[in-house]
Order: sequence, then C-alpha cells, then structure tokens
Amino acid sequence: MKITYYGHSCFQLELDGAKVLFDPFISPNGLAKHIDVHSITPDYILQSHGHVDHIVDLVPIAKRSGALILSSWEIKEWLEKKQGLEKLHPMNIGGSKKLGFGTVKMVFASHSNSLPDGTYGGTAAGFLIRSEGKTIYYAGDTALTQDMKLIGELQPPDLAFLPIGDNFTMDVDDAIIAAKFIRCTRIIGMHYDTFGYIEIDHEEAKRKFAEAGLELTLMNIGETIAY
Ligand code: NI
Ligand code: MN
Repeated sequence: MKITYYGHSCFQLELDGAKVLFDPFISPNGLAKHIDVHSITPDYILQSHGHVDHIVDLVPIAKRSGALILSSWEIKEWLEKKQGLEKLHPMNIGGSKKLGFGTVKMVFASHSNSLPDGTYGGTAAGFLIRSEGKTIYYAGDTALTQDMKLIGELQPPDLAFLPIGDNFTMDVDDAIIAAKFIRCTRIIGMHYDTFGYIEIDHEEAKRKFAEAGLELTLMNIGETIAY
C-alpha cells in the first residue's frame, strides 16, 4: 500500500494496484500550491461529505480521470443532476460495496453535510476499507462518537486517518480517545493547519499520542509513504 498526502483531508491510497482518492480539496489550499491537480488520476474517489473543503476539486478530477465516485445517495444525485457526472455509486451508512481492490463500508461520522450550493448532502460519513489483508479507517470530518467503539469491536483497523484540528472536528485529545475506541495504534492526522481555525502544534500532538502509546504521523503535503 502507498499513501500520498495532498493536504487537508485529501489522500490517495494505492490499494492492490488501484488508486483511491479521498475528499479532493487541493487548488484553493494555500499549503498545497506545489501540487499539480492535473497529475492526480484516481480510479476511485471516496467522498465523505460535501463541504467545500472536501469537494472543490472533485468534479474536474472525476471528469478528467473517469474515476468511479462513491458517496451518499444525496451527493450522488447532486453530482448526476447538477454536475453532469455519470460514474457514480450511491451508498448509505452501514452498507458495503465490493470493488476490484477490496471492500468499502460506509460508516457513521458525527458531522453535518451539505453541498457548496446549499443542497442537503445526506449523512456525513467515514469509510472502512478492507484491502491487501488490511483494514483502513478513513474517519472523514467527525466528532468523537460512541459508534467508534463498534469499529474497535468488529473490525479494528491496522491504520486510521483521523481529524485532529479541533473547531470543526475532534481535537488531538479526542482523537487519542477515538484511537482507543477503534483499537488502532497507527494514526495519520488530517484536517489541521489548512485554515487559522484548525492550526495545531505538531510536536505537542505527536508527544500526546506517543504518551498514550500511539503513533501519530503528520505527512508532508506531496509526500508518498509505503505502508
Ligand atoms: Ni465538513
Ligand atoms: Mn471539513
């Protein structure tokens, strides 16, 4: 598995040969100016919710790459009827879809969800991905929630992407509790530093995770790591 970070909550995973992109928000991100959006050519895009800081580059990337987009039913309807996209797969919380690289399950996120024009987006979501014999949890934007305990009981992830920037989502302290709920020791942080509201102290965040017996990775934007 390869993981590339494009800033904010946007990652691309290479899973069993497939490129799987999450929540594309790159071109307006001042921290991601060095990323060439045109170089991103995913096979699949997993969309956690429709807020502008997650979706702004979705339509151009999807049109150029022909990627299949997995999202809530409501986002799928908006992409089809208002944006003219066709390669869409609607889901809802609790459902799974088998794809070439593995299985994607849409799970609950405690957050709001609307599209940039105000259209209702359904329930905000996270994803549990099963591929290459591993389980990966992409939490999306979320508060700490009791539902995370179910993930820990039923399908503890090998690796989890958790928001840590506070204000709109969990902060570092709640993300540490979330990691315990889901029973995962290897965490990649997301949804921090992009705006003034969510700036964090990197060293303090890593120290707090380490003190809790957890490993927090804060990737550089544009960096690719193997896992
Ligand atoms: Ni959001
Ligand atoms: Mn957000």
